[in-house]
Amino acid sequence: IKKQDLLYQGKAKEMYTTNDPDILWVHYMDQVTALNGKKKVQMKDKGKTNCAISARLFTELREQGIVNHFIEQLSPTDQLVQKVTIIPLETVVRNYASGSFVKRYQTEYLQKFDQPVIEFFYKSDELDDPFLNDDDALALGVATREQMAQIRQLALKVNRLLSQIFAKMNVLLVDFKLEFGLSTAGDVILADELSPDNCRLVDLDTKQSLDKDVFRKGLGQMVPVYEEILQRLQKEEER
Ligand code: C5P
Repeated sequence: IKKQDLLYQGKAKEMYTTNDPDILWVHYMDQVTALNGKKKVQMKDKGKTNCAISARLFTELREQGIVNHFIEQLSPTDQLVQKVTIIPLETVVRNYASGSFVKRYQTEYLQKFDQPVIEFFYKSDELDDPFLNDDDALALGVATREQMAQIRQLALKVNRLLSQIFAKMNVLLVDFKLEFGLSTAGDVILADELSPDNCRLVDLDTKQSLDKDVFRKGLGQMVPVYEEILQRLQKEEER
């Protein structure tokens, strides 16, 4: 397979077309951003760490029945994925209060929810990803009622599976963000990436952040913390 034109440059990844119209080439960059791109830093080895974490989690989810766009890893920083039309929604699942939830509702950090909380944000850099509900998504033509229901169901299933995977690593899955796309056949498919860039992860014993909050809050070196997550994942795989 051959890499062709740059299709899209995101905050942490570049997407290229390939000679196969149904396949995209993803390059994970050594870049980290926060505040919707306003804070941007280069970090060595960040790309390959996230690429490896994401590949493992997508593979694990596939084995557990979650259809997703991941095809294969090509090099430490590059992957092939199925081309989908991204639904412009950020689907956030929360198990414990953190981040914008705490800010919005002034609740206690890491307060446990009786059941997972699903929130949607409209993917729009110009609008700064505003909060939206299912009806708003329908009104904006972002997704159909059926697709929204499917997304909720998939998000909850991914939450159960990821929570289990991380629990075995002594890590609490606080919250995370998913993106879904539509295949050419019209199926809703899990896409984007799964890494400490879009999951909040906390060590069960120390409650230390093992995710991008290290960068957001200036808690120290971020890449070693991501590498710690990758190492724990690899250890679990070897069992
Ligand atoms: O900031 P907030 O608390 O809403 O984030 C919830 C979850 O979604 C966090 O795990 C965060 O990393 C992720 N997120 C993301 N991309 C965004 C906003 C949030 O991956 N643009």
